Amino acid sequence: MAVTDTKTFTAPKVKQTKILINGEWRDSVSGKTFPTINPVTEEVIAEVAEGDKADIDLAVKAARNAFENGPWATMDARDRGQLLHRLADLVEENFDELSALETLDNGKPISDSRAADLPLVIDCLRYYAGWADKIHGQTIPVRGNYFTYTKREPTGVCGQIIPWNFPLLMVAWKWGPALATGCTIVMKPAEQTPLTCLRLGELVIEAGFPEGVINIVPGYGPTAGDALVRHPGVDKIAFTGDSNTAKIIMSAASQTLKRLTFELGGKSPNVVFADADLDAAIAGAEFGLFFNQGQCCCAGSRLFVEESVHEQFVEKLVQQASSRKLGDPFLAETTQGPQVDKAQYDKILSYIEKGKQGGAACLTGGEPLEGKGYFIEPTVFANVTDDMEIATDEIFGPVLSVLSFKDMDEVIRRANDTNFGLAAAVWTKDVNKAHIFASAVRAGTVWVNCYDVFDAAAPFGGFKQSGMGRELGEAALANYTDLKTVTMNLG
Ligand code: NAI
Ligand code: MG
Repeated sequence: MAVTDTKTFTAPKVKQTKILINGEWRDSVSGKTFPTINPVTEEVIAEVAEGDKADIDLAVKAARNAFENGPWATMDARDRGQLLHRLADLVEENFDELSALETLDNGKPISDSRAADLPLVIDCLRYYAGWADKIHGQTIPVRGNYFTYTKREPTGVCGQIIPWNFPLLMVAWKWGPALATGCTIVMKPAEQTPLTCLRLGELVIEAGFPEGVINIVPGYGPTAGDALVRHPGVDKIAFTGDSNTAKIIMSAASQTLKRLTFELGGKSPNVVFADADLDAAIAGAEFGLFFNQGQCCCAGSRLFVEESVHEQFVEKLVQQASSRKLGDPFLAETTQGPQVDKAQYDKILSYIEKGKQGGAACLTGGEPLEGKGYFIEPTVFANVTDDMEIATDEIFGPVLSVLSFKDMDEVIRRANDTNFGLAAAVWTKDVNKAHIFASAVRAGTVWVNCYDVFDAAAPFGGFKQSGMGRELGEAALANYTDLKTVTMNLG
């Protein structure tokens, strides 16, 4: 028999399930644990220490102490950058294990963990490593005999609350700018996917970060998350997740007037004009929605196709969507794994039902897979109207709604008729049309003839109820610094 050169991937051993406070791994104060579930088998992967108010309190005290007193507080900025580079090195050294652990906990295909999540994590950490010694103020010509300059100082102790769709990448997006600026961190990973963040915590210690700079408290939102949001020792909350959760957080944080940044949901319009390279647009429409099982804040979930090409476009799109390879995420050829958990699976299936009941045409998919695991077929609805719930609500699953349009003015109006404003895309060969749409659409990111192109240097975030502040790029440094103005009397 010929030896096959196809690499095989398997679930790694889980090495860390405790709480990280002040450089030490501990059980929760209450002694409680919670299970993290394998979305393929529906079985428990591991029991994880369940942090709550008391653990958050200890973590915040450690982070506060590290911010004010520890070696971190006086470390040269360039040395902070070197620590970030060291962490990136360790992620590279543990690439196989971390990508497999991500696939185990989240269910995403191993090919995606290896080609997207891990490389983006490494790139993000290195990008912010480079910023650490390049954060500076200005000298400002004021009236009178004074010398005025500004400094950008770290905001302080940052509570960071992240979701489960890109568990490790969300850690990198949050830690990169916070560490580059000299803040300290209490992170609460999502209860569905705590494992890669905890393993990264081990690498933090190995990299040599001072104790208390990075603390990790796994647990649930309304308990550990809420305690972090309310804690008076926390200066800032950075949150990624549901827009409705952000409203709860904003209200809870108001008592201590914390700085807030939010990266939230969307119902992003993906607009295809008849003059576009249609094959490229079909591939972009498929990738823009089905990537990561449709669990993307920026998913192109409202696909507007110009009327004259609508029929041929949808026909090919359906072919392509239905040929996606659903199954074991550890197989290299799998392109779609299970949804992350039962709650998401149930939510998505209920939207599919609403689509069918509401009169949209379900052209492919529309059913869960039989047997174990939270698998849902890639689903395409046509004849969708703007008022249907599948066209207005964030479904966060493999469900694409196709709408047809006649002209630019109409599609701009309809694209903007939403409380969300995270991302948008336009497909056309006409440069004027691309610019007109990019300028008129109310969204934080606009992709032209591409979708889901991310770079650590390019800011990302939402207009309207899709967010506050920007992640990535130089822009994210503003989330983690406060501006100080110093005026000296020269008289
Ligand atoms: P969620 O917003 O409840 O969870 C995200 C994070 O917030 C988790 O770490 C969770 O523990 C924490 N959290 C929840 N309630 C909290 C509270 N009261 N205080 C502090 N932290 C809290 O999102 P969930 O329930 O996982 O998903 C619901 C829907 O949200 C999804 O179906 C999807 O539509 C949307 N979503 C959007 C994401 C995005 O990237 N924009 C990511 C995840 C979910
Ligand atoms: Mg929730």
